[in-house]
Amino acid sequence: MANSALTLHNVDAYYGDSHVLQQVSFVLGEARLLGLLGRNGAGKSTCMNVTVGLLPPRGGEVEVFGELVSRLPPELIAARGVALVPQGRRVFKSLTVRENLAVAARRPDPGSRHAPWTAETVFGMFPRLRERRSQMAAHLSGGEQQMLAIGRALMTNPRVLLMDEPSEGLAPQIVAEVMATIRKLKESGLSIVLVEQSPKLVFDIADDIVILNSGRVAVVSTADRLQRDGTDLQQHLGVF
Ligand SMILES: Nc1ncnc2c1ncn2[C@@H]1O[C@H](COP(=O)(O)OP(=O)(O)O)[C@@H](O)[C@H]1O
Ligand SMILES: [Mg+2]
Repeated sequence: MANSALTLHNVDAYYGDSHVLQQVSFVLGEARLLGLLGRNGAGKSTCMNVTVGLLPPRGGEVEVFGELVSRLPPELIAARGVALVPQGRRVFKSLTVRENLAVAARRPDPGSRHAPWTAETVFGMFPRLRERRSQMAAHLSGGEQQMLAIGRALMTNPRVLLMDEPSEGLAPQIVAEVMATIRKLKESGLSIVLVEQSPKLVFDIADDIVILNSGRVAVVSTADRLQRDGTDLQQHLGVF
């Protein structure tokens, strides 16, 4: 296995008294794409919130490239190179496209091998955003808002990119465009967690698959192996 970009080790997380993640462990390898699947309410977004420090875990550890981050505040975890494209996109509606990108910008780590992301390189990836650069985000379509949300995350020059249901609510053609972008980002060497409810989208693109069921890890596998053997999917996702 490649070096670990992100490790969750026996993570326990609560909302108040509600024990939402129970002993969750998984490893995202460097330059790999891990598909995180599970039904609605399984705990996928909670895993993302724990990873970026929005919900500190009550037990267990989160490591980014071997460094413990689970006691750090969100801004220091972001500074270690972890970026989240949140579920529901959450761009700043009253700012323009260009302003949304500018406020997200963060300088890359000094040792980074990659050219830093700029508004121009984001526009190179999403030409539609260039055309709309002076428009308020509120006036963008759902697909364009998703592209902007991804662009905002890239402007932080992440080493680990977390994407929480980027296909949600988008037309199939736009979903295909977003997936093609994710594939390019993976090929550029970024380590990615892609959260989705639909395995169909994820199997095409993921190296590794983790399935959550009621806040616990139910399946850890490679995409190839799981695709050959659908039984676990049926049990945990109710598909096929
Ligand atoms: N802010 C919150 N307060 C209390 N419970 C929450 C909160 N967010 C999510 N939950 C609960 O935690 C569980 C996991 O939710 P979530 O991580 O959002 O699941 P998923 O992203 O897989 O749909 C669900 O039972 C959900 O109702
Ligand atoms: Mg969710």
